[in-house]
Amino acid sequence: MNIGIDKISFHVPNYYLDMTDLANARETDPNKFHIGLGQDQMAIIPETQDIVTLGASAAAKILTDEDKKNIDMVIVGTESSTDFSKSASVIIHELLEIQPFARSFEIKHACYGGTAALQQANDYVTLHPDRKVLVIAADIAKYGLNTGGEPTQGCGAVAMLVTKNPHLLAFNNDSVFYSEDVYDFWRPAGHDYPLVDGHMSNQVYIDSFTRIWEQNKKVNHTDSSDYAALTFHLPYTKMGRKALRAIFSEMSEEEQQRLEARYDEAVVYSRQVGNLYTGSLYLGLMSLLDNGDLAAGDRIGLFSYGSGAVSEFFSMTLMDDYKTYLSIEENQALLSSRQQLSIDEYEAMFNKKLPTDGETYTFSDYTAYAINKISGDIRYYNK
Ligand code: HMG
Repeated sequence: MNIGIDKISFHVPNYYLDMTDLANARETDPNKFHIGLGQDQMAIIPETQDIVTLGASAAAKILTDEDKKNIDMVIVGTESSTDFSKSASVIIHELLEIQPFARSFEIKHACYGGTAALQQANDYVTLHPDRKVLVIAADIAKYGLNTGGEPTQGCGAVAMLVTKNPHLLAFNNDSVFYSEDVYDFWRPAGHDYPLVDGHMSNQVYIDSFTRIWEQNKKVNHTDSSDYAALTFHLPYTKMGRKALRAIFSEMSEEEQQRLEARYDEAVVYSRQVGNLYTGSLYLGLMSLLDNGDLAAGDRIGLFSYGSGAVSEFFSMTLMDDYKTYLSIEENQALLSSRQQLSIDEYEAMFNKKLPTDGETYTFSDYTAYAINKISGDIRYYNK
């Protein structure tokens, strides 16, 4: 019996900034962002939306009433939580009207949280094959205006329903892990934005990948020819490419071109969104499924990286008829129908914060699941 991802969807807010506009405003050559970082657009979130609205919006697209009866767990992987105690998952569980006898909790380790949640779902469904687990990876990547990290911001959520006999992808249960206590990117309590050593973080990412890749070869007796594609956590789309190229010396030129072509297919969506931390690897996976030259039975390698640092490499196999279950037009429409912001509009939206004085304020964002009121430091959402 296979366990895996039966359905997958993503959500981003309705606003974006063009990277040429950001470059011009910051007196930088636009090619640095488009070519040097591999980013064309950046998703921007209004104050009335958060990881709950992103996650609920992504999950609502894929869940049927039958699914909601069979979900035993809702796990949210995030590093953008607004509460140290209450989880976003319990709010999403309520908004989506999932049956009440379910577990719901948040999982954290930087951008690795979504993968930790997905593997927990795999373990649970393996033990309870008739039940389902909803995994959500939702984040808002913000470094601050005029900072080195600004062009690598973004936001969004990916929702995945893990079941037996999945329609899309099956786990191969071949994970290898790597942990190293390092301060490349971290956000101590009290800080609105992360502290980051950008260049060090790039190096730790690449070193983590090359180490885990060697370990994977040893443990799973595979080499690059066993994978139809290698997908990566994408803080910006040049990052995974650098890691991929770090293992090119062990491949023929033809093999390098094959994997780089799949890589290009996997970054189509992220070029238009930016970093969504925990969801980035899975937005890359969706881009690969929607745009990739792949076939049923193909094995896809996934490299998950969370600063700090924890990594995991694992693979999944494409199911027969997986193409029938993709929502390619819907995904493309979500990105192409967004509203472009000017720099002034972006900066104003960036600086707006929800009040924290406990008073009551109402908002008129009529998007499904937006925040419509805050009162007594409780957020109330549109259903
Ligand atoms: P920077 O100093 O602004 O940029 O920092 P740079 O000078 O390193 O240039 C970037 C690239 O643009 C270079 O290419 C330049 O050559 C090129 P590379 O040598 O790297 O291949 N370039 C140009 N190309 C074409 N035309 C031009 C031009 N000018 C320059 N005119 C940095 C960039 C990414 C470090 C910064 O934006 C940053 O600190 N970002 C945040 C941290 C980050 O994203 N780190 C990634 C690894 S860590 C990670 O993935 C985890 C994370 O997602 C968090 C989590 O786990 O929770 C971040």
